[in-house]
Amino acid sequence: MCEQSTPLSGSVFCCPVCGAALTRKDRSLCCTAGHCFDLAKEGYVNLLPANYRHSASPGDDREMVAARTRFLDGGWYAPLREKLCALAEQVSGPAPVLLDAGCGEGYYTAALDETVQRLGGRTAGVDLSKSAARKAAKRCPSAEIAVSSVYRLPVPAASVDLLINCFSPLATEEFARVLKPGGYFLYVVPGAKHLWELKSILYDEPYENEEKREAYPGFHLMEVEPVEMSFTLRDAESIQALFHMTPYTWKTPKHGAERLAERNELTVTAQFRIHEYRRER
Ligand SMILES: C[S@@+](CC[C@H](N)C(=O)[O-])C[C@H]1O[C@@H](n2cnc3c(N)ncnc32)[C@H](O)[C@@H]1O
Ligand SMILES: [Zn+2]
Repeated sequence: MCEQSTPLSGSVFCCPVCGAALTRKDRSLCCTAGHCFDLAKEGYVNLLPANYRHSASPGDDREMVAARTRFLDGGWYAPLREKLCALAEQVSGPAPVLLDAGCGEGYYTAALDETVQRLGGRTAGVDLSKSAARKAAKRCPSAEIAVSSVYRLPVPAASVDLLINCFSPLATEEFARVLKPGGYFLYVVPGAKHLWELKSILYDEPYENEEKREAYPGFHLMEVEPVEMSFTLRDAESIQALFHMTPYTWKTPKHGAERLAERNELTVTAQFRIHEYRRER
């Protein structure tokens, strides 16, 4: 889809039906073939093709998105956000186009957008979850936010300078398609002992995450930047918000969840690894 490039004055997105450029008309984005997509009142647009709208995995639900917002607004992951912004600034030329693929509720997207705005560029974010897109659009009023799958991005080929993927599904072929030659891809994954103290309460035998330096066709792996911080959550609500924004919320045995529910204080270590890939020229 979207094989032709869009001029900078149009939307970062292209038509999910025919691939033509989209331009804003009142409260809609429309292509020259007459396909129009209404902006929701929060400002996001649903660009999921009709046959994708009833997927068995529709992305994070409203409760999970709310838990993520509650936790992230506590500022505990600010060092990761700052590092991502610093890297974005470092690798970007003037007027970059940034795409946050799987942007969630927009905590990182909003800060990245500030960096991109300073450089005279534009930011877009996509997420499969309508609840996440709604929140991201509120957090990032100057970015374009769409409901869409990372596996079928409504974005023209070779139109993105910097693609971010933070703890979201990885679609390397699609990412290679939308990135400009020489563009950057920052891929954030958990480190070996990410949230180890939390996992040690939830599971009788917690496992470490595997740390890999994966090679993807069309990309060079330039660098892996670790980001690590420890912090103490001093109320049950914050501890539960952290738990409910992680995938452990689906796969924790009942007795593990009960052990965590008894805690009013928890010191946790967060370990991230930012993989810095560059699209081949
Ligand atoms: C762990 S969250 C990370 C969100 C955000 N990047 C952050 O770090 O706060 C994963 C996100 O991927 C979204 N997601 C799941 N499958 C997706 C897909 N196929 N395409 C786009 N987003 C998807 C979920 O809705 C969720 O918001
Ligand atoms: Zn169209």
